[in-house]
Amino acid sequence: MEKFRIRDVTKENIEDLCQICTPSEKKDHPIFITGMGEKRKWATKMLQEWGTFAKLAYRGTTALGLIQYKPVPQERIIYIYCIFVPEKDQWQKGIATQLLSSLIADMKKPKLWFDNKPALGLVTRTFPGAKSGQFSARLFFIRMGFKQVGEDPDFLFYPLEEGFIYQPVKKKGTEYIPQEEDKDKVLLFHGPSYCPFSYFFLKKTEQTIKEIAPGISIRWIDKSKEPQEIRKRGNIEGCVVNTKPIKSFVLDQEDFQKEVTEALK
Ligand SMILES: CC(C)(COP(=O)(O)OP(=O)(O)OC[C@H]1O[C@@H](n2cnc3c(N)ncnc32)[C@H](O)[C@@H]1OP(=O)(O)O)[C@@H](O)C(=O)NCCC(=O)NCCS
Repeated sequence: MEKFRIRDVTKENIEDLCQICTPSEKKDHPIFITGMGEKRKWATKMLQEWGTFAKLAYRGTTALGLIQYKPVPQERIIYIYCIFVPEKDQWQKGIATQLLSSLIADMKKPKLWFDNKPALGLVTRTFPGAKSGQFSARLFFIRMGFKQVGEDPDFLFYPLEEGFIYQPVKKKGTEYIPQEEDKDKVLLFHGPSYCPFSYFFLKKTEQTIKEIAPGISIRWIDKSKEPQEIRKRGNIEGCVVNTKPIKSFVLDQEDFQKEVTEALK
């Protein structure tokens, strides 16, 4: 099997990480320029905060795959945001396996974030990000030996210490706190993100809502510029319509339309 060069993301190759997910024909599109910019802000902050937070797989100087993660010191685990090999002609060559193996080898070593101990395990929540015909992240992680956490099929863990079983810590909710000023309005929350498509999907959300409710007032809130506006709403993400957070994904058209229409009543 071909051996790829796995490199940690540093100041030198951070731009490769910001660019890799966006198809070349979309790189000049304003929505993706913003999306990549939001990823750049996220990556810069992660690098400052943790030192290491992502790995790239290279053939020569071309980055072909990524894995992104963050340490969670309170739980002594590594949370994986995503793993992705964008180009079809690079699938099933062992890129993702080599990225994950590198992360596993790395996190079995003592880490300062964990008081000089290795991580107990890896944890991830997969989401439907695969391109048409591509293997899903969930099936990949299951193939690699990850086990389900509780009832949610997308919530997975992999022990690094023998016998470790991940018990999720109940997080303080990201429940939306309704605000009087949000009535009859649409709120779209954006800002630094590990995924350059987040902004694209929010734009799509805006466009779909405009079709459902032409003329409705729309407010964009940038997490990095107006953190207090996010905080007072319970650190919510995504979209709120008439004080109701929208749970459906914009590409699940029927559910999304139904939920938005209901929220507008
Ligand atoms: C899942 C993914 C990371 C796998 O990458 P890859 O480099 O092609 O994977 P590998 O070549 O290392 O293969 C890993 C295993 O998965 C299997 N696999 C990969 N693609 C497969 C496919 N289409 N069908 C069946 N098995 C497949 C391989 O056979 C291998 O299994 P084995 O070790 O038992 O032989 C890649 O397909 C992907 O990016 N999918 C989308 C993931 C996603 O949604 N990410 C979030 C979006 S940002």
